[in-house]
Amino acid sequence: MDIITARGLTKDFNHTRAVDNIDFDIKKGECFGFLGPNGAGKTTVMRMLYCVVVPTSGTIKVFGLDIEDNPSIIKSRIGVMPQDDNLDIELSALKNLIVYARYFEIPYRTSRKTAYNLLEYVGLTEKADENIKNLSGGMQRALLLARSLINSPEILILDEPTTGLDPHSRHNVWNKLKDLKEKNTTLILTTHYMEEAERLCDRVAIMDRGRIITIDSPKNLMETHGGNLEYVYLKLTGKRLKGKENGENNLS
Ligand SMILES: Nc1ncnc2c1ncn2[C@@H]1O[C@H](COP(=O)(O)OP(=O)(O)OP(=O)(O)O)[C@@H](O)[C@H]1O
Ligand SMILES: [Mg+2]
Repeated sequence: MDIITARGLTKDFNHTRAVDNIDFDIKKGECFGFLGPNGAGKTTVMRMLYCVVVPTSGTIKVFGLDIEDNPSIIKSRIGVMPQDDNLDIELSALKNLIVYARYFEIPYRTSRKTAYNLLEYVGLTEKADENIKNLSGGMQRALLLARSLINSPEILILDEPTTGLDPHSRHNVWNKLKDLKEKNTTLILTTHYMEEAERLCDRVAIMDRGRIITIDSPKNLMETHGGNLEYVYLKLTGKRLKGKENGENNLS
């Protein structure tokens, strides 16, 4: 069953066409990745999906509901980990989660309990009362992940969830995401790490300059084009390669 359907989706910012007439469907329970170079339009697509950027044209249906008509219902059932940290630096880690829970009208006592559970889930129990500015960059990313789960979302949107994380923290996030997927949460993510896409994503859309070049499973893409996913990515997004044998990426 498709949980998201986008048709003819386009976004213009002044003179920039950030997203250019794209179509895609995302199935319930799958992990779907958007890949593409800086400026390809990935974040803009994500922001349209979670109803903070209004499309210039085209349609998006989430849970079968049109985003234009039902933004608040859709937002209440989606979790978002944005590309930029937008935590409240005046507040503690715990307070950040509790205040965020108010947007979903979660009662205080419930939100406090959930917040503690989520801090434990991402390994930040000891930092509960610490001010955000005293958390490391990786800890702030972990807190953003915890925050995105406060409303037990059916769809989780993750814009570069592991950028800037050390290898252990990255593996921790991967395990959490696999966990969530097993519980049937639909995951939509962007990443610049091809290993991450290969491990987590059932299907990926490779984007460039606002367009989708292809949508397929990493396995099919690697079989069709030869080489590993990074090779496929570089090939499809226009970098010239030579010596593709054995999946090596020799940029010329
Ligand atoms: N609010 C905005 N106002 C004007 N232009 C914007 C805005 N947001 C994005 N753009 C432009 O839209 C294009 C796509 O940006 P977007 O952030 O979606 O790319 P991205 O694929 O997420 O890139 P990255 O990998 O660097 O995060 C870029 O040319 C960017 O400058
Ligand atoms: Mg982005």
